[in-house]
Amino acid sequence: MMFDFETLSAADRYKLLVATVVPRPIAWVVTQDKAGVVNAAPYSFFNAFADNPAVVGIGCGPRPDGPSPKDTLANIEATGQFTVCLVPHRLVHEMVATAVEFGPEVDELAEAGLTRLPSAKIAPPRIGESPVAMECETFQLVRAGHHTIVLGKVLAMHVADEAVMDPAKRYIDTPKLDLVGRMHGRGWYVRTTDRIEVPRLTVAEWQARKAAKAG
Ligand SMILES: Cc1cc2nc3c(=O)[nH]c(=O)nc-3n(C[C@H](O)[C@H](O)[C@H](O)COP(=O)(O)O)c2cc1C
Repeated sequence: MMFDFETLSAADRYKLLVATVVPRPIAWVVTQDKAGVVNAAPYSFFNAFADNPAVVGIGCGPRPDGPSPKDTLANIEATGQFTVCLVPHRLVHEMVATAVEFGPEVDELAEAGLTRLPSAKIAPPRIGESPVAMECETFQLVRAGHHTIVLGKVLAMHVADEAVMDPAKRYIDTPKLDLVGRMHGRGWYVRTTDRIEVPRLTVAEWQARKAAKAG
């Protein structure tokens, strides 16, 4: 069945996208407003897009109750700084707590009982319990209808010591991070424990494999 995205409503396009583009990593974004009030919220329209400079992107939609930007976007527009933390399985309930549509005056990290740690290069703090945190400054804001895609240049990354296997070689024990992704619907997530290893092939290996199948 084909769904024609040129004639569908935005709500239907959203349904189809979030039900199929899975699993999506979750950016737990920490910002602060000009007065220093800290804000945190999860965003699963998120990924990494470049390494030189290192660029991550987040799709911020409008508030469900109107077109005004969410606090995360309003703060990024005002300050140009944000921290992206990643979400391990043991923190999914705290992550969901920070998605409650609180007013801008509410500090979601305090509500969820999470610890703030200072960032090294930017003002917004990072979430102490998160095993990975990226300090970012705005690289570009791309308007896409009622979404704004925030592209952030990563200035620094913090990784929990126990997940760093070899700091000199930058080897990370990714399974130890135990990160989750977002699946379909509003409440579904996936753990990254079901892994498969599929080695890449050279042309010679591909041809040898084809020859073995044929013969
Ligand atoms: C797992 C998860 C992923 C989410 N992803 C997005 C997203 O990609 N874009 C978005 O606009 N809202 C997303 N939301 C909803 C926001 O987190 C929610 O609107 C939040 O209240 C926004 O907070 P803020 O106003 O403090 O930025 C997500 C919620 C959850 C629970």
